[in-house]
Amino acid sequence: DTIEWSSEDAEKSGYDHYMLKEIHEQPASLNQTIHGRFDPTDESITLDDFEPGEFSDISRVEFVACGTSYHAALYGCHLLGQRGIPAYAHRAGEYASNPMPVDDETLVIGVTQSGETADTLESLRRLEDTPARTLALTNVIGSTAARETDDVLYIRAGPEIGVAATKTFSSQVTALALLSERLHRDITGEPSAHSSGLLQSLGALPEQIESILDSDPTAELTRKYQGMDAHFFIGRGIAHPVALEGALKFKEITYEHAEGFAAGQLKHGPLALVTPNTVVIAVFTGDHDEKTLNNVREVQARGASVIGIAPEDATEVAATVDDLIPIPSSTPELNGLLANVQLQLLSYHFANRLERSIDKPRNLAKSVTVE
Ligand code: G6P
Repeated sequence: DTIEWSSEDAEKSGYDHYMLKEIHEQPASLNQTIHGRFDPTDESITLDDFEPGEFSDISRVEFVACGTSYHAALYGCHLLGQRGIPAYAHRAGEYASNPMPVDDETLVIGVTQSGETADTLESLRRLEDTPARTLALTNVIGSTAARETDDVLYIRAGPEIGVAATKTFSSQVTALALLSERLHRDITGEPSAHSSGLLQSLGALPEQIESILDSDPTAELTRKYQGMDAHFFIGRGIAHPVALEGALKFKEITYEHAEGFAAGQLKHGPLALVTPNTVVIAVFTGDHDEKTLNNVREVQARGASVIGIAPEDATEVAATVDDLIPIPSSTPELNGLLANVQLQLLSYHFANRLERSIDKPRNLAKSVTVE
């Protein structure tokens, strides 16, 4: 007997889907993203060809991006904001029609895995005759975004085949963490208060992700929570963009109803939708956990079940939620990335159980080249 292997099977290296393969590639792809870019011993950051002081005259950052890259940009806003640098993320589909005023102290970062998303490219083109400096944060060498912007920083995640972005989100956020710290140093002349914590934790991140992948506790939960009407993902601070990304991934590949909300926003409308047939996935990073726990109790009081994703030492979260998906403890800045890996696995297992077309979800494309 011969075993039939298509070239696609071979490329999936034994995984059922590219998405699962790419989720499992994250320890390696993150190592590529950070390789040679910082030194934990002297805490220097060397971002490719950028000279020290390169960004000293930048006073604010605007992001333009779509989909998962937009969520990485939102994450980046928190990383910059915590370092005293004003930052705002725009959905590129809006920005291309309604650009905001910029000046010569504005750095506009186009976050785009492919470097070919029409809305993002058009947003960046709207800046051509302005004094703003543009930078592409992209995965694809020589892509249109890389060629058309003033500067480029590659995320070096390697090729991503699954339509639903996974490893590239992790690499985007990691590159943005280094860039944020670098901007702070260029602008103020010294490391931020978060610097040591960030660099020490970045070094440990690939191994921590490996430990999540080894234990992968989320498959069990798909049985318990199948057939729910709605899946709400909530978080506060950095956990907010992670919740949005969790909901996006979930809807993309399961076709089930999922929405992401800022935890504090629930009581301003979405709470009306909560019933015993709602499952709420609450993301905790160690910052603002108390307040988010109050929001958890609000939905539990309306009969919803809550899955918490939280650092393993978050005892109060563990005591409050119905099911806990633990993550190894990092800094609050990076706990969001670890939580996101669990969310990737959760969506994957739900979609797999429903036998969805995980690598090529209906109606979606990897790269959207029309506005
Ligand atoms: C499409 C894809 C998403 C992706 C988005 C932005 O919508 O389905 O997975 O996040 O485009 O793509 P980009 O290449 O600009 O990051």
